Amino acid sequence: MMVEFDWRPEQAVKSLNRILPEVEKTFADKLGQAPDEWHKFKNRLHREWERLFIYLHQLYGWQYDFFYTLQRILNTLVRYWLERPAELKLLDEKREADPCWFLSEKVVGGVLYVDLFSDNLAKLDDHISYFKKLGLNYLHLMPLFAVPKGDNDGGYAVSDYRAINPDIGTIQELSKLAAALRDEGISLVLDFVFNHTSDEHIWAQKAKSNHPDFMAYYHTYPDRELPDQFQTYLREIFPTVRKGNFTWCEEMKRWVWTTFNSFQWDLNYQNPKVFRAMAEEMLFLANQGVEVLRLDAVAFIWKRLGTNCENQPEAHTIIRAFNAMAKIVAPCLLFKSEAIVHPDDVIRYIHSEECQLSYNPLLMALLWEALATRETKLLEYSMRHRYPIPAGCTWVNFIRCHDDIGWTFDDQDARNIGIDPYAHRKFLNKFYTGEHPDSFAKGVPFQFNADTGDVRISGTFSSLAGLEDAISKQDSELIEQAVRRINLLRSIMVSIGGIPLLYIGDEWGMMNDYSYLTDPTIVNDSRWVHRSRKRWNAREDLTDQDTLEWRFFHETVKLFDLRKKLPALQNGGMEVIHTGNPHLFGYLRAFKDQKILIINNFSEEPQTMDAVHLNACGVKDDVMNLINNDVLSSGKDLVLNGHQSVWLDIS
Ligand code: GLC
Repeated sequence: MMVEFDWRPEQAVKSLNRILPEVEKTFADKLGQAPDEWHKFKNRLHREWERLFIYLHQLYGWQYDFFYTLQRILNTLVRYWLERPAELKLLDEKREADPCWFLSEKVVGGVLYVDLFSDNLAKLDDHISYFKKLGLNYLHLMPLFAVPKGDNDGGYAVSDYRAINPDIGTIQELSKLAAALRDEGISLVLDFVFNHTSDEHIWAQKAKSNHPDFMAYYHTYPDRELPDQFQTYLREIFPTVRKGNFTWCEEMKRWVWTTFNSFQWDLNYQNPKVFRAMAEEMLFLANQGVEVLRLDAVAFIWKRLGTNCENQPEAHTIIRAFNAMAKIVAPCLLFKSEAIVHPDDVIRYIHSEECQLSYNPLLMALLWEALATRETKLLEYSMRHRYPIPAGCTWVNFIRCHDDIGWTFDDQDARNIGIDPYAHRKFLNKFYTGEHPDSFAKGVPFQFNADTGDVRISGTFSSLAGLEDAISKQDSELIEQAVRRINLLRSIMVSIGGIPLLYIGDEWGMMNDYSYLTDPTIVNDSRWVHRSRKRWNAREDLTDQDTLEWRFFHETVKLFDLRKKLPALQNGGMEVIHTGNPHLFGYLRAFKDQKILIINNFSEEPQTMDAVHLNACGVKDDVMNLINNDVLSSGKDLVLNGHQSVWLDIS
């Protein structure tokens, strides 16, 4: 086989040698003031340029003005680096010296809506002590940018990436908060909503006035010919809102691609100007002190006729190009991918040169699956071969977030262990919407698709785990069962490998809030059942030890503290073990000499892991359960209470 000569590395060097002197001339005054810094920047530039060149060439090399694109991009890199505040450049150096800091067992995350939690950014400052009390050092603020009034998909329809929703605050307040958090060792995480803008964004407004340059920022079509061809293959994400993935724009008299709501216009990354413009928005956010960007809806950013337009190779190339740019200008910036797609596709976004972090939607869904079935075979089977990810990357594990739950497990995984995936999803939907007679859950259906029968599930952690139902029945035994379910899932989230991400409110057992049903702007979006304002202020008042809220809070803090003391819990590496019992799910975590064996019981009944299986996992002597300091004598079977989770120190 003939190996083709790769001309790109050489061309990359040539292009850089041509463009850099020009850019140096443009910024000569400023660069002369900080020669050492500039030298460091250039080292990073030389290190990353080849791959950036290759990605950009793959995306835009066929365009006659590719060299111009390269020039503009290098100019952007230098401009945003010059604007980068000195304290962030210091942080860059610190992170470069310890690039895998986020793999540490000490990292624990939380996520909240600023307006629901503290009304606005200024007041959030007052609650930093609460985050410290919880032990958080990674704080994700849900989208807080300028958005259209009324329905704006919970902030995911952005009208201006450089302005905060005036009800929430200002950009100055955001960077001030970022600095205050940083001082306390808390990294700020924000969304980068880069698949679409709102139809009120200035680019969309100009497109609506038929400005050809801005129409080219979006995918627009004069008639149904192409939309109809695309539509055949597309999934509908919000089928109850609108049929199809295109919206007629009366001002333009054209169809616009809108994967989500009709007011969220998909950006056209085939246009290098869009890439450049969004790269600038990304660097602007980095310069406000954001350390992790959650890349929203990554799967949808590239369209190709004849495909479902999800997870296209170019989607990866775009993110990698952004990653290379970030490494040059703001090396402390990390990306977290939000790919709620098939598990094979989720994994493909995870790489140190793409997204270093990724939500773990499969673990989340299968924890709920095992809780409903009381059996762990699908969880165990899937995790055994789907947990490993590339070095220098980690999962972000969560039980609930602001979105719905979809049953994203692999059909073949299910069939391999004798589960009919279609029937199983149907069962799970019935179970979590409370339709199943034996259900403990109070979930609410989300986006029922009458054509396919698909539906997803909304609801808070506590309500889905049975607490709401148990409290309404005033049944203390059911309440205890729900508490145990909650403790079980939390224990897994904290110990299994990756960054645990707490949906703030869950630390005190927040339940469903049905008041969204009276708000016409969100009444059709059941996800608001778990995005309530009610009692969302920091629960400094949790002093009454007899309350469930107090118990949840203290259990949460206790587990976070314990995790931070156990180096074996760092990183994402985890080995699923054989428990010999269909209701148990166990895994081994190890680092250097420390070994922790974690066993979880998904049934209400006591369950046993016998001494033979324990021995096979390395349990030789007496071992201690680190959660309650109980000792398991050597050679004995391990009996777990209903929904108990044990962390055995078998070092
Ligand atoms: C992501 C968000 C979701 C939003 C969608 C469109 O999936 O998590 O809340 O509706 O993107 O932006």
